[in-house]
Amino acid sequence: MNKIHAAITAVNGYVPDYVLTNHELETMVETNDEWIMSRTGIKERRILKGEGLATSDLAVPAVEGLLKKRGISAEEIELIIFCTTTPDMPFPATANILADKIGAKNAWGYDLQAACSGFIFGLATGAQFIESGKHTKVLVVGGDKMSAIVNYKDRATCIIFGDGCGAALLEPNTDGYGVMDSILKSDGSGRAFLHQKAGGSLKPATHATVDALEHFAYQEGQAVFKFAVTNMADVAAEVMERNNLKSDDIAWLVPHQANKRIIDATANRTGVSADKVIINIERYGNTTNGTIPLCLWEWESKFKKGDNLILAAFGGGFTWGSIYLKWAY
Ligand code: UT7
Repeated sequence: MNKIHAAITAVNGYVPDYVLTNHELETMVETNDEWIMSRTGIKERRILKGEGLATSDLAVPAVEGLLKKRGISAEEIELIIFCTTTPDMPFPATANILADKIGAKNAWGYDLQAACSGFIFGLATGAQFIESGKHTKVLVVGGDKMSAIVNYKDRATCIIFGDGCGAALLEPNTDGYGVMDSILKSDGSGRAFLHQKAGGSLKPATHATVDALEHFAYQEGQAVFKFAVTNMADVAAEVMERNNLKSDDIAWLVPHQANKRIIDATANRTGVSADKVIINIERYGNTTNGTIPLCLWEWESKFKKGDNLILAAFGGGFTWGSIYLKWAY
């Protein structure tokens, strides 16, 4: 029998309605539209408003739409990998909460934490369960309610992040379509530059940690930028070289949406022309685990069967990686 690849057979996404524009941010912190646009490429981002709503509530419409598109029921899902940095709760896993909310009664699942590289790590991990023959329907969800951990008085971070979620279904394919290769990397020394100080076992929540604003995302932007701009570009180039792919062989480059300048650097390094680079950062900002599946969702109608896609991400950890994917439909 031909080798089993894990093919994406459906994608879907969801962003909340509320639009937080650069102009509104100008009323909250000392910043301006020109600075944000020129440094990041972001014009607006979406925010999940409302009491009692969490990351899983972004995932429910994304996944329900996906199941409808694919014409399957939630009960057919065998495994849910929920890639998130803003789980509904420290435990149990948001994968379990999502399974309950959508009625995926036959699924097991777990959360995967690799910050902005989460969806890439999740896709590569989910693919293993398909390739091994263990499962035939694996749902990989990438989503974050970043507004839950963003300090809207910190102009260095509040301009970047937004809320959103996307999902992809993996199924076996023996015709040579699907996840072809992946390169995943991490360097834990990078934790110094991008992290949330409190709320974990190192520094459980106390009045003091709340007063010190330690439950918000902390980022040393310039340091992260330096690592991201080279590593994301290098790993994308590495996966292409390893598979003898030239820039002309690539139909679409799907980069993590953290900063337009990092995306441009990755496009330059891989030689992929601008018209093949998927960018929606101006509308959603950095949705962390959501960026890549949201891109797949929004560009789905343009993809053709057999298109070569290169996915690339860089995030907190540090974590980074790239996937070579042959589009299956
Ligand atoms: O997705 C996970 C990985 N994360 C990333 O990849 C993010 C990587 N980093 C970045 O994208 C960029 O570093 C930022 C967008 C976060 C910041 O851009 P930057 O060009 O690195 O700016 P900077 O932090 O070096 O700040 C330059 C100046 C500073 O002023 P001084 O010290 O030169 O007077 C900042 O205080 O810009 C100031 N600044 C701002 N000014 C207006 C910082 N934030 C703002 C702001 N509006 N929102």
